[in-house]
Amino acid sequence: MTSSTTAQPSGAQAAPGQPPHGLTMDRLSFILFGHAAFQYLNAACELGLIELLFAQGPLTEAEIRDRLELKERAGAILLLGCTSLGLTVKEGSRYRAADLIVALEKDGTWPKIKDTVGFEQHIVYEGQADFVDSLRQNTNVGLRRIPGDDPDLYHRFAGHPRLEDVFYRYMRSWSELANEHLVRKLDLTGARRLLDCGGGDAVNAIALARHNPGLDVTVLEIPASAKVTEARIAQAGLASRVSVHPCDMFADPFPADMDCVLFAHQLVIWTPEENTALLRKAHEALRPGGRAVVFNSMSHDEGDGPLIAALDSVYFASLPAEGGMIYPWRVHEQCLREAGFGAVERMTVPGWTPHGIIVATKEAL
Ligand SMILES: C[S@@+](CC[C@H](N)C(=O)[O-])C[C@H]1O[C@@H](n2cnc3c(N)ncnc32)[C@H](O)[C@@H]1O
Repeated sequence: MTSSTTAQPSGAQAAPGQPPHGLTMDRLSFILFGHAAFQYLNAACELGLIELLFAQGPLTEAEIRDRLELKERAGAILLLGCTSLGLTVKEGSRYRAADLIVALEKDGTWPKIKDTVGFEQHIVYEGQADFVDSLRQNTNVGLRRIPGDDPDLYHRFAGHPRLEDVFYRYMRSWSELANEHLVRKLDLTGARRLLDCGGGDAVNAIALARHNPGLDVTVLEIPASAKVTEARIAQAGLASRVSVHPCDMFADPFPADMDCVLFAHQLVIWTPEENTALLRKAHEALRPGGRAVVFNSMSHDEGDGPLIAALDSVYFASLPAEGGMIYPWRVHEQCLREAGFGAVERMTVPGWTPHGIIVATKEAL
């Protein structure tokens, strides 16, 4: 089983143009207590319940309490919630992890989901309480929950090393849930130079460099985060082909003569106007025939899903920067055209995350 074939939540991704779920009382009550459902998932991860059951399950309630050092009431609450939600299964007097979670552990997906849970709990959760104000004011009011003066979340991480670690762990995992498709679908035959804008810890740069031995990659990253990027590149043994260029990609010029410019999980952060400005810089940096690539979650052009794109948009509305959401494909395509690109191609990505890829070509003169 690969990460792309697992965990398809039934009906969570309605096909474009299809109506979303009809609302039932079950579904409404699940939405009403959705925050509590997430807290059980987070507790199962942070307290080590799932790992305990992987390693030693099935176990009785008393054994679980004992190993997790929980009092009777606390153990009962945890197991009531996790079992009611289906995260754990009770057979006789013993509990085990759900079959899906066991399968996700086997194929390597579960640790990535755990990294995502950590991000939601420690970075996203509090800021989302400002969602309504963020909508009213059309700006990221929730950023006030992460102390600092910088205008966006990423620049504030320098003052919060623990959050920075949680973020880059998550970002690596979220990229790895889908970037095998980017690597496979993006034909870089003949390409020599790729620019990865806001490349984070170089997770995508490294994957592309490994798959394309003739490719050199330059990662643009803010100076405070470039140390994370450098460390990962060194760890991957790719320092001769992948380098980091600390800069502000809005203010500073892009290195020129590129065959490909990648925006991975980048154009979901900013306004369409800011995205067009970045794409114009990419257009200038590309040689004729070169391509810009947008790789991130996409929402349907009809504005009716997929569900995860909608849910993830609460974070982009509330926290990282003033503008941003999981945009419909058409918004990215419009920005690409305004930035001067010609042919634009959509590539869908299979799996439970709503990832997509757009490739746009700078036409030869
Ligand atoms: C959502 S993360 C995506 C990381 C990576 N591309 C990935 O897909 O895993 C956005 C990244 O853009 C970087 N970034 C934000 N603003 C930037 C700027 N003005 N110049 C350069 N990088 C920036 C952040 O530091 C962060 O690492």
